[in-house]
Amino acid sequence: MDYQRDQKQLIQWYKKNRRALPWRENKDPYRIWLSEVMLQQTTVVAVIPYFEKFLKNFPTVQDLASAPEHDVLESWAGLGYYSRARNLHKAAKALAENGFPKTAAELLELPGFGPYTSRAVASIAFGEKVGVLDGNVIRVLSRRYGLKLEWWNNKGRQQLQEISDTLSSFGSSDSVNQGLMELGATVCTPQKVMCLMCPWSTDCVSREKNLVEKLPLKKPRKQSEVWVWKPVVTIKNGKVALVSNDYAPFLKGQMIFPGTISQNEDKPKDYDAKHNITHHDIFIKIAHKKTASDRNVEWVELKNLKKVNPSSLLQKVLHKVET
Ligand code: ADE
Repeated sequence: MDYQRDQKQLIQWYKKNRRALPWRENKDPYRIWLSEVMLQQTTVVAVIPYFEKFLKNFPTVQDLASAPEHDVLESWAGLGYYSRARNLHKAAKALAENGFPKTAAELLELPGFGPYTSRAVASIAFGEKVGVLDGNVIRVLSRRYGLKLEWWNNKGRQQLQEISDTLSSFGSSDSVNQGLMELGATVCTPQKVMCLMCPWSTDCVSREKNLVEKLPLKKPRKQSEVWVWKPVVTIKNGKVALVSNDYAPFLKGQMIFPGTISQNEDKPKDYDAKHNITHHDIFIKIAHKKTASDRNVEWVELKNLKKVNPSSLLQKVLHKVET
């Protein structure tokens, strides 16, 4: 396999076809890091307005580091996965003090920096010759080389990681990695593949063997867990009683309504609302109370609830109470 030839074709294609995206304007590691964290949960088009708003509120890593956490969460509201925003904030504090380390191995030590983010920032901002692996890259490489790998297991991932690293080893790892992402996002897509636009179309193994639709292999689906949550909603003088969540398996450590939770075999018959967080199907049965006799409740102004906990789960419960 001529990986060096593939690398050349890929970076040529990327230089011609790359989209002008706000995080591609310069090599500021803070911007690149922020974009990579945001892009883990949604598409480029959806991220752009959040990215611009976040940067307006926190133009530098120092601004982010010195901001109160609720301001950071508020700027993140709508993107979901708030633990990512919390980790971003934690890491910003370390980075503001010590500056950005320039290798993936060092970045990996920071809160929220997994293998993907560390490698993306090190290659895009600092040119380190390390390859990335995310959903797009897994798809592109599996198809190009016709690999029927169980990419969700260590062994399969490692094989793909080695190929990605090899492609980056020839240099321009910034363009190699973003080229793979771009190819996956715009040409080698999950559906409606546009092989005629692909720099690798003539050598693509899955195209030749008619495997494009079959690769990458499909990950076996994890069964969702069914939970019944009975939040106790107490409102007094425009304030609502919340506790720090030490009892529910979702939104851990965040401020939520006090209450009880139990796991169920099946969907319950009687419930007020339903919510999904990752692999939790949450069925909500609301309990009203005049006084909150519970443990350590904290009274939060209703109008500040979104700041304290931006999750739409709480909004949904509150909405049900009000209607
Ligand atoms: N997805 C993840 N990172 C990306 C990037 N830098 N450009 C485009 N899409 C991406």
